[in-house]
Amino acid sequence: MTTLDDLPIRDDLRGRSPYGAPQLDVAVRLNTNENSYPVPDAVVDAIGKAVAAELRDLNRYPDRDALALRADLADYLGHGLTTGHVWAANGSNEIQQQLLQAFAGPGRVALGFTPAYSMHPLLALGTGTGWIAGRRGADFGLTVDDAVSQVRAHHPDVVFLCSPNNPTGTALDPAVIGAVLDVAPGMVVVDEAYAEFARAGTRTALELLPGHPRLVVTRTMSKAFGFAGGRLGYLAADPAVVDAVQLVRLPYHLSALTQAAARAALAHRDVLLATVAAIREQRDRIVTELRRRGHRVADSDANFVLFSVDGDQAVAWQALLDAGVLVRDVGLPGWLRVTAGTPAETDALLSAMEVLSR
Ligand SMILES: Cc1ncc(COP(=O)(O)O)c(C=O)c1O
Repeated sequence: MTTLDDLPIRDDLRGRSPYGAPQLDVAVRLNTNENSYPVPDAVVDAIGKAVAAELRDLNRYPDRDALALRADLADYLGHGLTTGHVWAANGSNEIQQQLLQAFAGPGRVALGFTPAYSMHPLLALGTGTGWIAGRRGADFGLTVDDAVSQVRAHHPDVVFLCSPNNPTGTALDPAVIGAVLDVAPGMVVVDEAYAEFARAGTRTALELLPGHPRLVVTRTMSKAFGFAGGRLGYLAADPAVVDAVQLVRLPYHLSALTQAAARAALAHRDVLLATVAAIREQRDRIVTELRRRGHRVADSDANFVLFSVDGDQAVAWQALLDAGVLVRDVGLPGWLRVTAGTPAETDALLSAMEVLSR
C-alpha cells in the first residue's frame, strides 16, 4: 500500500499530522468551542428559502466579490466600516491563509505568542511561511514590553494576536495591540473569533482600524452566530488589504449557497446572537465553580474556559471522556479547555469533574 512517505510530498510536510480535534460520538461535546444551541426554527426556514432561491442559478458561478454579503457584514460590524473594508471566505481559517499567502510565504516569517490558536502555525506551514513561536508570561499574559521586544527581535512580516485568546480565553489589553502596531514592520492580524463573548467593557481592535492600514481584524460566524457548519469567516481592514487578498483568493471561492445562507443568518442576527448571554452565564458559572473547587482558571472573555487539573492532563481528559464529557487537551501540561454550552452541559461537566477529583 502506498503511504504518504512514498509520495514526492514537500520535505517540510513529511512527518506532520493534520489539524484535528477528535470528532467523537459523545453525549456532551465541549471540545471545539462551537455554539451548543441548534439553529432556531425561524432561521432554519429563512436559510432554507434563501438557499432554495439560488438553486436554479447554480449553473452560473456566484458573485466572485460577494458584494451583498460583505455589505451585510460591514453593517453588522458598524464602526463606520463599508463593503470595501470587509472580505469574506470559508471560515476565518481561509481568511488567515489568504493573508499569509498575500503578506508572508516563502522567505518571510510570522510571529505568534504561544499558547494561542494552533492553526496559526499550521497555516504558516501550509503557505511556506517561517513560524516564530513567541512567548507569553507564566500566567499566559502578554505585556506591552514582552510583545514589543519580541516583535523588535524577530522583524516578522505578519504578527498574529488573538483576542480573546484561544486556548486561554482572555482578551488582550488594547495597549498591546497599539504597541505592536507601532513597532511591527509588517501586517498585524488580530484574530477576534470570540469577540461577541467578551465581558462588558472589552475593547475591539476594530476601533484601531482608522489610521492603521497594516491592521487586520478577523472574525467568524462559527462561534457566537452558531454557524460553524456554514463556514463563514471575514476580515475588516483598510480597503487596500482587501485588494491584496483578492490577488490570492481562488476565483468563486465562496459558493452561492454559502453566501445566501450567511446573508439569511445575518438578517436574523438578533435571534442567533440571543444565545450569547446564556453562554456567557455558563462560562462564568464554570469559572466560578472550578475556582471554588481549587482549580486554577484563566479569566475568560470567550465561550470556553482553560482550567488546571492535577497530574497528567491526558489522563484527566480520558477520565472526563469516560464520564461522557468531551473536552480539549490542547497540549498544555496540567491544563484542559472546555467549551461553555447549555446549563445541562455545564451540569454534566461539573459532575464529571467530581469523578475526576476522586
Ligand atoms: C481563535 C480562532 N480563530 C479562528 C478559528 C477558526 O474559525 P473558522 O475557520 O470556523 O471561522 C477558531 C476556531 O476554533 C479559533 O479558535
